[in-house]
Amino acid sequence: MSLKQSVAVIRGDGIGIDVTEATLQVVEQAMAQVGDCALEYNDIAAGAGYYKDHGVDIEPGGEEKAGESDAIFLGAIGLPSIRHPDGTEISPHLRLRDRYGLYAGVRPIKAYPNAPQRLADPRAAGIDMIILRESTEGLFYSAAVHNRSKVVDNEEVYDSLLVSRNTTERLHKFAFNLARRRKARGKLGRLTCVDKANVFKSMAFFRQIFDEIKADNPDVETSYNYVDAQALDLVRKPWEFDVMVMENIFGDILSDLAGGLVGGMGMASCAEIGDEIGLFQPAHGSAPDIMGQDKANPLAAILSGALMLDYLADKSGNEAFAKSGELIDQAVDNGFAQNRLRPFEFGGDMGTKAMTDEVLTQIGALK
Ligand SMILES: NC(=O)c1ccc[n+]([C@@H]2O[C@H](COP(=O)([O-])OP(=O)(O)OC[C@H]3O[C@@H](n4cnc5c(N)ncnc54)[C@H](O)[C@@H]3O)[C@@H](O)[C@H]2O)c1
Repeated sequence: MSLKQSVAVIRGDGIGIDVTEATLQVVEQAMAQVGDCALEYNDIAAGAGYYKDHGVDIEPGGEEKAGESDAIFLGAIGLPSIRHPDGTEISPHLRLRDRYGLYAGVRPIKAYPNAPQRLADPRAAGIDMIILRESTEGLFYSAAVHNRSKVVDNEEVYDSLLVSRNTTERLHKFAFNLARRRKARGKLGRLTCVDKANVFKSMAFFRQIFDEIKADNPDVETSYNYVDAQALDLVRKPWEFDVMVMENIFGDILSDLAGGLVGGMGMASCAEIGDEIGLFQPAHGSAPDIMGQDKANPLAAILSGALMLDYLADKSGNEAFAKSGELIDQAVDNGFAQNRLRPFEFGGDMGTKAMTDEVLTQIGALK
């Protein structure tokens, strides 16, 4: 068991800088209150602003340095006004995903009281689920950045979708463990394999491996859903789902749909986990339209900080980190329930600093 863990911090651009600051403040207070755990931070300069000043998108040795810590926290990277000569945006974080094999993309979706609810059914108040998105292959195997598409003259373009045994086995093992962990915390703990196994060989293979791993995890309740039916069910009865595991592009699309059910980008937390290290970041970008105005909702970043603490508990065997993460989750729950968290993003009257202060106050009240 380790009392201290290290975190590589990439603040990045735009509101990424502000929401990172908010997160570190909150994480520090939660840990101080729980005791017996601490973090050491290693700052890494990267992003569009850094590229503008230095001609490279991350400080020298920054990628290697990120992997030397126990976890990576990232604010947001990119500014549409600053680009490479070929027109693409500055995105060193995508290389980190590949370099460290961050295959398990965890996207929690949770409804909070007094936050926007898009569904009229009162059961929508109980939405609490996770989209687990494979994040290194699937159709993104052919993402333009990898230059793997086959282009035939100006007539046909072929993109490939990769499902490998190696990654898929690890993804499904992660999924079963996550469902079990959630069950232990009083959630549904049900695992759904989302695919298109009726049409594609790659998807039948995805499901075949799911079934192989399932045989070793008989205690976890499972079900299957084709991705089109899953889209329908996310609107019809999202409260019936807990953990949904799926290929990359399916997760890309369904996580936005699901996120839309419970608010906006300012609530979308995210973890990307590999075998060696995890990267934690809000799912939103640098929001140049509101940067420097104290308007960003810091909760997506703060909740990502809570995910990071939970991960570090697992990694270090020190449950004090997990308790600190739970304190943050509870503080956000309570803040919404008391209508004391009212972000501008949802038509409220609170900016980044006021929101952060309220989360700190709520944590203090949990003493
Ligand atoms: N992982 C990342 O770092 C990441 C992810 C997505 C986009 N980007 C980059 O960010 C830049 C802007 O991209 P975009 O505008 O498409 O997406 P964005 O997520 O930055 O913004 C989309 C919309 O959501 C709003 N928004 C986002 N986060 C918010 C928050 N915390 N609180 C309140 N409102 C919030 C913005 O104001 C904007 O209207 C681009 O350079 C893009 O490449 C980076």
